Amino acid sequence: MEKKVVLSGIRATGRMHLGNLIGAIQDFVELAKNPDYDCFYFIANLHTLTTRGDPDAIKRDLRGIVLDYLAAGLDPETVTIYAQSSIPEITELSWLLACQTGVSQLTDMHHWRDKKNRLEQEGLTANAGLLTYPVLMAADILAPRANIVPVGIDQHQHVELARDLARRCNYRYNTDLFTIPDLLDREGVKVPGLDGSGKMGKSEDGRATIYLNDPEEMITRKIMEAVTDTDRKRRTDAGDPGRCPFFAFHPLLSTKDEILHVQNGCRDASIGCRDCKRVVADHVLTILKPFQERRRAVESDHERRIDEILHEGGTRARRRIKETVDRAKDLMGVPAF
Ligand code: TRP
Repeated sequence: MEKKVVLSGIRATGRMHLGNLIGAIQDFVELAKNPDYDCFYFIANLHTLTTRGDPDAIKRDLRGIVLDYLAAGLDPETVTIYAQSSIPEITELSWLLACQTGVSQLTDMHHWRDKKNRLEQEGLTANAGLLTYPVLMAADILAPRANIVPVGIDQHQHVELARDLARRCNYRYNTDLFTIPDLLDREGVKVPGLDGSGKMGKSEDGRATIYLNDPEEMITRKIMEAVTDTDRKRRTDAGDPGRCPFFAFHPLLSTKDEILHVQNGCRDASIGCRDCKRVVADHVLTILKPFQERRRAVESDHERRIDEILHEGGTRARRRIKETVDRAKDLMGVPAF
């Protein structure tokens, strides 16, 4: 039986953080252990161009993500690691798919509305890449004919578009070329920011984000300064975990017993916010300290191999992608001569 293709990408935008690790990369590692899956994990550096312009930073961050992938336990021999920019056929497919996409399908996306509004509030205008971002993402997914796309809940709408475009193209061109991708059959994990904002890493404020290479004291300090239920002013006040933005970390990291202990202790004020945070801090350090050690080891062993890893992964992925895109071009009446 042919293996199922699992595909996901991370956009290179600055340093990687805890949200990337527990919201994405840890799943990538788990999925890669399944012998029925052929995993493709790429760095969406063309998507990065929608929001960032510094070429050196984009190149540097790409290399950092590869090292983070390796430190988290991905083996480039068994999973295919590549840069989106290595494979021109992805961008080519993105054009073909753009011609199948309704403008309102893009202008209705949460991601577009949020980004556009935020930019306009700052007196800036959104570039067209931000609007067509989901079409490029559909090309990322459909080009290697991915079966399963593990992504956070904020990306589900984008995967929905990929599914829609696959069905539409298959129908219109009377083909089964495009595989309809599935989301992973579970709720996407969302890691909030420490400032109580939506998602870790989205805010500009470094205090709201735990970076994978933050030193231990800084991690502890950031957690201890995190925003909690503002109605619980004194240690003796009873709190409400349901209204506390920090509580969202417990279901992601803590054991069932710890969660019960924290919930009850908060409600009857037998524990303070510091006690609650200590539980989370211990879990975060248990994950990050060994990660950081491996990251240092990987950096000294593999720094010079990064180009090779990306080249090999890019070559492997491109072979599969080119088959799809060549066929798509022919089906749509625009073959290469
Ligand atoms: N948009 C995704 C994010 O910001 C990154 C991404 C780009 C992606 N292309 C993809 C994820 C294809 C999965 C599949 O997280």
